[in-house]
Amino acid sequence: MSEGKLPGPPLTRVQLLREIGLSPQWQLREQLAVARATAGLPASQPAELPGEAAVDRAAPVPVAAAAAARTEEIARMGWPQLLPSAAACRACALCQERRQAVLGVGDVAADWLFIGEAPGAEEDARGEPFVGPAGKLLDAMLAAIDLRRGDDVYIANAVKCRPPSNRTPEAAEIASCAPYLERQIALIQPRLIVLLGRAAAHALLGDVGSLASLRGQSLEYPAPAGSGHSIPVVVTYHPAYLLRTLPDKAKAWEDLCRARALMRTAKAFAAQSA
Ligand code: URA
Repeated sequence: MSEGKLPGPPLTRVQLLREIGLSPQWQLREQLAVARATAGLPASQPAELPGEAAVDRAAPVPVAAAAAARTEEIARMGWPQLLPSAAACRACALCQERRQAVLGVGDVAADWLFIGEAPGAEEDARGEPFVGPAGKLLDAMLAAIDLRRGDDVYIANAVKCRPPSNRTPEAAEIASCAPYLERQIALIQPRLIVLLGRAAAHALLGDVGSLASLRGQSLEYPAPAGSGHSIPVVVTYHPAYLLRTLPDKAKAWEDLCRARALMRTAKAFAAQSA
């Protein structure tokens, strides 16, 4: 054997890095935070993920596997399992200060699904989304297009637990709650989804741009499991923003009118193909 040549099969990249003293392999902090959140592991916990373990940090795959297993588990849940699961969820740090998880409210077979950002103080106390001042405006917005909370309408949030001081939820928190939102959509199979504000848009469409750029666009949520068709999505302003920015109420009204027209089209299409 010539000098410097190792016997046996060639080393893997990971083994090689370890040999030359360059392990552990690093994962971008943000990727890791999202992976941890999706796996249901607290972001602050010291290195205990299989992929981060102090002795062998070179195996990020189990992180993704744990996240996928959690997502799959939630994707199999019905309504009776969903609420207790969210109530017991400790996937991100928001569980530490919540009084309760706020899953959603309304008709579970609704045509209309409205999605907001996250519970605020009153929602956290009462366990129902949009019961504070923003909720009163949302109810008025619903009434303006002849809708009523609970009557063919379901209301949920992108994030189920209240962020401290009502701050905007972080990307990892949104990612951690996404399996619940996705399951809600798959169970309800609404004909139309209205996204209230940027966090809701981020949760469903990804980090795709400003709210202003999303308004008025023809957007779709891919067909959920068990449904043959995608769901039209309308993006509009969050009611809490509208309370602070009255001139934009007219734009929100335009969005609602567009949503109502899309709903009529969706219903007519469904009636034709029935
Ligand atoms: N804002 C939201 O986005 N959701 C609520 O439930 C309350 C206020």
